[in-house]
Amino acid sequence: TGYVTLDPGFVNTASCASAITYIDGDAGILRYRGYPIEELAEKSTFLETSYLLIHGELPTPAQLSEFEEQIKHRTLLHERFKSFFSGFPSSAHPMAVVSSAVSALATYYPDSLDPFDQEQVDISSVRLMAKLPTIAAYAYKSSVGQPLLYPDNSLGYVENFLRMTFGFPAQNYEVDPEIAKILDMLFILHADHEQNCSTSTVRLVGSSNANLFSSVSAGVNALWGPLHGGANQAVLEMLEGIHSSGDDVRSFVNKVKNKEDGVKLMGFGHRVYRNYDPRAAVVKKATRKVLDTLGVQDPLLDLAMQLEEVALADDYFVERKLYPNVDFYTGVIYKALGFPVNAFTVLFALGRLPGWIAQWREMITDPATKIGRPRQVYVGAPERHYPNA
Ligand code: CMC
Repeated sequence: TGYVTLDPGFVNTASCASAITYIDGDAGILRYRGYPIEELAEKSTFLETSYLLIHGELPTPAQLSEFEEQIKHRTLLHERFKSFFSGFPSSAHPMAVVSSAVSALATYYPDSLDPFDQEQVDISSVRLMAKLPTIAAYAYKSSVGQPLLYPDNSLGYVENFLRMTFGFPAQNYEVDPEIAKILDMLFILHADHEQNCSTSTVRLVGSSNANLFSSVSAGVNALWGPLHGGANQAVLEMLEGIHSSGDDVRSFVNKVKNKEDGVKLMGFGHRVYRNYDPRAAVVKKATRKVLDTLGVQDPLLDLAMQLEEVALADDYFVERKLYPNVDFYTGVIYKALGFPVNAFTVLFALGRLPGWIAQWREMITDPATKIGRPRQVYVGAPERHYPNA
């Protein structure tokens, strides 16, 4: 193997063949299993889309209700697992708590860790889908020092998550159906995005035949970074920073253009899209709707819209084909819903979960899969000898 090509960041190297998600970055097209994201966002539900991603076809009504039931029956965490959350400081970032908890699921379910046993893989897929909202809600509850709520399985997937997050024991928690629908739709938009950093991580870890829980836990950690899913938190912090400093949008954009202190316009740009991210277009519309439904006025939304307008008219962004990505507007919605800024990326993880599962399953059953083991170009010292004493 004399000849190795260097491709930092895999800009031009495909790591696998996949039948799950199609992106045409120049045209701004995104499809799951052939279905345009806009149609799924409008007509599907998150669990139906999850089934589609994981199993390849839209479920029949009977298949969907069986899938929903299987998930409902596994939303509880083992009682002992609950003490896990009190082991972290209340200032813990929830992404660190969530990835640890996902990793810890492998300790509770040693019966479903064999990557080559179809039944075990099915059970661990369902367990992950069922338990991640509970884990996410408990990470939040323990950070704010509130009691944990058991899941209420009479509720839908998103309603249950919202209630476990914002409800209190022995109190009614009315979930506004409009809000639940929008969060469900946001989860659909995040559900898969082919070989992004976290998904590639899930596949790479899984390629060593590591179990699904361990692989997904690594994916959660990869997602946390601000260049990836962590961008939704970074965008809101950027908007708050501009707002509180009284900086005007133009001078912030100039700072970005001049690369002052490495400042970037967070929520802009994408490795694959060289056009408007189709997810961002849907989120932008939803943002206005959420604020109107909740009767919230947030100056950060106006600020974001001004930033977008100024950036899209500026040569720096035009030449580099930088457009808003999915993370640009989601933070404004999550904030309006009452989530703390450091929980935003957890919401991304909840949405991305079926994609990670589907991609891991595709990887493990693909006869072409080999352990991921990139080569390198060695640039270190030539052979030299340890000095004699
Ligand atoms: N603000 C300012 N300049 C930018 C930005 C930005 N957000 N994004 C890219 N550029 C510039 C970059 O500096 C480079 O300029 P030059 O040619 O002068 O050096 C040029 O555009 C090409 O960028 P790149 O860094 O080579 O592009 P990449 O494909 O390696 O990076 C990215 C993609 C998403 C990491 C990057 O656009 C970025 O850092 N964006 C901000 C973070 C962000 O919003 N991430 C969320 C991505 S979408 C959801 C997800 O995946 O989680």
